[in-house]
Amino acid sequence: MSGMTRKVALIGARGMLAKMVQAAAPSNFSIQGFQRPEFDLTDVDQVRRAMEEFRPQVIINCCAYTQVDRCEDEEELATRVNGEGPGYLAVVARELDATLVHVSTDYVFSGNANRPYRENDATGPMSAYGRSKLKGEQAILESGLEKYFIVRTSWLYGPWGKNFVETILRLAAEREELRIVADQVGCPTYTGDLAEAIFRLLELESDSETPAVFKGEYGVYHFANEGQCSWYDFACEIVEIARQIGLPVKAHRIEPITTEQFPLPAQRPTYSVFDTAKYQKATGVSIPSWQESLKTYFEVR
Ligand SMILES: NC(=O)c1ccc[n+]([C@@H]2O[C@H](COP(=O)([O-])OP(=O)(O)OC[C@H]3O[C@@H](n4cnc5c(N)ncnc54)[C@H](OP(=O)(O)O)[C@@H]3O)[C@@H](O)[C@H]2O)c1
Repeated sequence: MSGMTRKVALIGARGMLAKMVQAAAPSNFSIQGFQRPEFDLTDVDQVRRAMEEFRPQVIINCCAYTQVDRCEDEEELATRVNGEGPGYLAVVARELDATLVHVSTDYVFSGNANRPYRENDATGPMSAYGRSKLKGEQAILESGLEKYFIVRTSWLYGPWGKNFVETILRLAAEREELRIVADQVGCPTYTGDLAEAIFRLLELESDSETPAVFKGEYGVYHFANEGQCSWYDFACEIVEIARQIGLPVKAHRIEPITTEQFPLPAQRPTYSVFDTAKYQKATGVSIPSWQESLKTYFEVR
């Protein structure tokens, strides 16, 4: 397969990650976006028709119902998009002999661990969003599709989307004081690094001389920037860089608070640090630290 251009169906093409996937695609991947209203992932007939007509060799699913708090009230819709949709893609990928890349989340875990999460650790979602995303992973596993990568990621930010970095920059420009949750620990992830990781995994597959041996490489991968921090640490670093590069900063105090002091409808994992050794071993690539990638984001935003 090496050297050949591969046709990619990019699902949910208007989203934050999808736009980065489109921008970061190596030249041997030819990307076609699919999005609403012509393409609705909850409509199985539309999904089938669109994929059978386009006949992709790769399907990258960046589509999701990502409003975590709204999912609590709209679990049925969340389940259709996040839980059933990936299954429709997996079934059609199997029929077309295409490879599916599906993006999942740290919310499939309970967040009660005391060491970084590995791919085969027990799941245990604590929110409607987490349950719906876990169903999506299970639907792929149950489809019988062999050629899939489920890439779980966390605390995603990048251009073309609402994200924590932009929220902090806006608040820091408006307010004297910020109060940020300090008792949730995780790994921020820059969409540029995740998009690159997706193509690294896909390139492993195209470089492989022996598809049968390669089969062992399919499956679930954890991908996040290296290191860990709390939302409070993340906010401090964002404001610090903003000051250094001369962005408007009014905030002179950042106060660490507890999750209890800032209640939200959906429960967040307290601890969602990923062990990314599997990805690094498979690709031979090391992952930048979250601080390094945050700087990169400031250069491109
Ligand atoms: N953001 C994070 O912090 C985070 C963390 C971990 C994992 N993830 C995962 O990463 C992936 C990408 O997230 P993101 O932040 O890039 O999401 P996003 O910006 O919210 O984009 C999601 C896209 O999905 C589309 N979509 C929703 N329902 C659809 C449907 N029924 N049919 C077709 N398209 C539909 C939306 O389309 P419209 O534009 O029409 O609404 C939107 O463009 C998701 O799988 C998410 O679960 C995200």
